[in-house]
Amino acid sequence: MTQSTAVHQVTGAAGRTGRTAKVIVVIQQKGGAGKSTIAVNTAACAGRSAVLSNADESVGSPVVAAGIDVQGTLEKWCATVREAELPFDYVVTKSKLGILPGIVEDPERRRIIVDTPGFLDVDPDAEWGADPLGESRTADALREVLEVADLALVPITPSKITWDECEFTIERVLKPRGIPFLVVINMHDPGKDRDEKQLNKVKKWIDERDYPRVAAPIRRYTIHENAYENGTLVTEYKMSGTALNAREDFMRVALTMEQML
Ligand SMILES: Nc1ncnc2c1ncn2[C@@H]1O[C@H](COP(=O)(O)OP(=O)(O)OP(=O)(O)O)[C@@H](O)[C@H]1O
Ligand SMILES: [Mg+2]
Repeated sequence: MTQSTAVHQVTGAAGRTGRTAKVIVVIQQKGGAGKSTIAVNTAACAGRSAVLSNADESVGSPVVAAGIDVQGTLEKWCATVREAELPFDYVVTKSKLGILPGIVEDPERRRIIVDTPGFLDVDPDAEWGADPLGESRTADALREVLEVADLALVPITPSKITWDECEFTIERVLKPRGIPFLVVINMHDPGKDRDEKQLNKVKKWIDERDYPRVAAPIRRYTIHENAYENGTLVTEYKMSGTALNAREDFMRVALTMEQML
């Protein structure tokens, strides 16, 4: 894979601040599009390359994963992974305010990848231009992370069911805050003709809006479906066959993310 094939329409967005740590938030109003899967595995890919380039294990990992979900999907997933296989640190926030801003200022940290809950507490009556995030503990936690976010990853699926929410998330939540974003197509079923057509449709829909996207989709594989339960990360998948393809999809996302930072 070369860099030029990894990203479609690079915006070359620079980080919003001069700090060492860059904050990447995985966000999509629609539940189930793959936020947690993408957050955990992108952190694993980023963490794995950081481990390879930085052998000093006396300090914490330069990559931190965090979830602001009160249900704590990300933390539960990470807790199930064998410690020796976890190439990043993770923090439990349970939507508590003040934790992430502290980590962001830590000069040892380079990438902070934040999973967010589905079903954002959206105020349906919010005026265009007004903040639609509503009033709740999770909404406050989300506002806090968006304030320090350098990039957002927005999952979308070939199935149309997530498209409106993708647009809403970008137009109403990210653009008004000036947060650069990258759309990630997830759950493409390889080998099905109908799915190939649907994939082209979603790509066209994204490109018509001039949204930058990861050039190739994350494919739908059973191995991902069991990953939360089994406490596995793509970085631990086998280096052959389907598992290798499955791992490469996330490596591509991590690489494209780096190009945007
Ligand atoms: N590429 C994929 N291939 C197969 N299964 C996938 C893939 N991506 C996600 N899944 C599965 O789809 C389901 C939803 O994914 P996930 O929990 O990551 O979405 P989410 O956006 O975090 O959901 P929520 O909004 O509820 O937090 C999970 O069961 C997950 O294992
Ligand atoms: Mg989730």
